[in-house]
Amino acid sequence: MSRKPIIAGNWKMNLLQSQAKEVFEGVKDFCKDYTAQELPTVVIAPVFTSISAVESVKCDCGCGGKKISIAGQNCHWENSGAYTGEISVEMLKDAGCDYVIIGHSERRQYFSETDEMINKKAKAILAGGLIPIICCGETLEQRESGVTDSWISGQIKAALEGISSEDVAKSVIAYEPIWAIGTGKTCDSDEANRVIAMIRNTVKEVAGAEAADSIRILYGGSVKPNTIAEQMSKSDIDGALVGGASLKAESFNEIIANTMKVAVNA
Ligand code: PGA
Repeated sequence: MSRKPIIAGNWKMNLLQSQAKEVFEGVKDFCKDYTAQELPTVVIAPVFTSISAVESVKCDCGCGGKKISIAGQNCHWENSGAYTGEISVEMLKDAGCDYVIIGHSERRQYFSETDEMINKKAKAILAGGLIPIICCGETLEQRESGVTDSWISGQIKAALEGISSEDVAKSVIAYEPIWAIGTGKTCDSDEANRVIAMIRNTVKEVAGAEAADSIRILYGGSVKPNTIAEQMSKSDIDGALVGGASLKAESFNEIIANTMKVAVNA
């Protein structure tokens, strides 16, 4: 099974509209020299207020919007209503998003998101025709006490509960060990590959072999231009969710370029 790699940039709460546009233009400039086929799936998740700024420049290269997709960093599971401060899947779609990141450890930790909420969001995203990027990962304490695999397979089972195999197949999972996020401590790539293979096995248990074969599972946590080639050379790692290194076009482009050099999954 060949899975097209994904390089997704999670800008978190960074970049004002003009800055977002500048970084986006830099990525677009790099991508224009390659066909959508040659490129990995490139996804950028700006803050909500910058989505329209990047959307307005997305398609003027004539690629029909196929080269760079936009993601929301979060959503609510209802379509509309009295949920002050929230944003719905329909609204993200209306603004030009194709993907939504859900269950990021920062949302779980600082905004008390539960597995149940993440499951509701995943269902709403798929029902709305978008693709969820479902994050999971363990803390350093969990890793040290040897519960990494059971914790993560629990997160995955809860997130995918009640979702059809067909929808699971088109979803994306990002394995992000919390201790590796923003710390410069990348997870050893053999270990990241082992956990990701374990996640694939969990997907097989809940949604069958075909879905497990199709679903793209990314690694995230201090991914840099000099780490991506080794990560992409591993059997089960289908791409990366990149935080810090996605805030500058230069480093994000280098990550895309180095991904294209290692075409194991392409
Ligand atoms: P980082 O963030 O690349 O800065 O470690 C990754 C993420 O949180 O998605």
